[in-house]
Amino acid sequence: MKLDEEYLSYVKEILDSEEFQKRKNFEHHENESVYEHSLKVSYDSYLYAKKHNLNVRDISIGGLLHDFYYKPWKDNTEKKPLFKKHGFVHAKEALENSCKNFPDLMNDRVKDIISKHMFPLNIKFPKYKESWVVTMMDKKNSLSVLKHPSA
Ligand SMILES: [Fe+2]
Ligand SMILES: [Fe+2]
Repeated sequence: MKLDEEYLSYVKEILDSEEFQKRKNFEHHENESVYEHSLKVSYDSYLYAKKHNLNVRDISIGGLLHDFYYKPWKDNTEKKPLFKKHGFVHAKEALENSCKNFPDLMNDRVKDIISKHMFPLNIKFPKYKESWVVTMMDKKNSLSVLKHPSA
């Protein structure tokens, strides 16, 4: 995937960080790492935001960090009640982890993008247009992997 210079200027710090690089080894879906998935969601959201005059900086950062949870979800082998399972808690974890690792990149909109991206599973409504876009791109990218598992 060819990324443009403007996009990189917003997210270079994240892409270069050791902690984010570790996501190359976290499996998201078969044949796709969390790193690749997050980059796709972020870049698609960036392109959409550019075309529709939304906040390109915040959407790029929020999109890239939306799945920045602590551990690969397949490592979660202990039995947990439904509302403690990955689908429900990882957005909150991603927010905590993002605030810890990249405090200078955070603002209200970026935080909303990350914490609400699992809507409607997380029930709370996204507050900004940029949050809706990332939610949409996340679902679109996750579904296309399911439809074309070998692509
Ligand atoms: Fe997610
Ligand atoms: Fe995702």
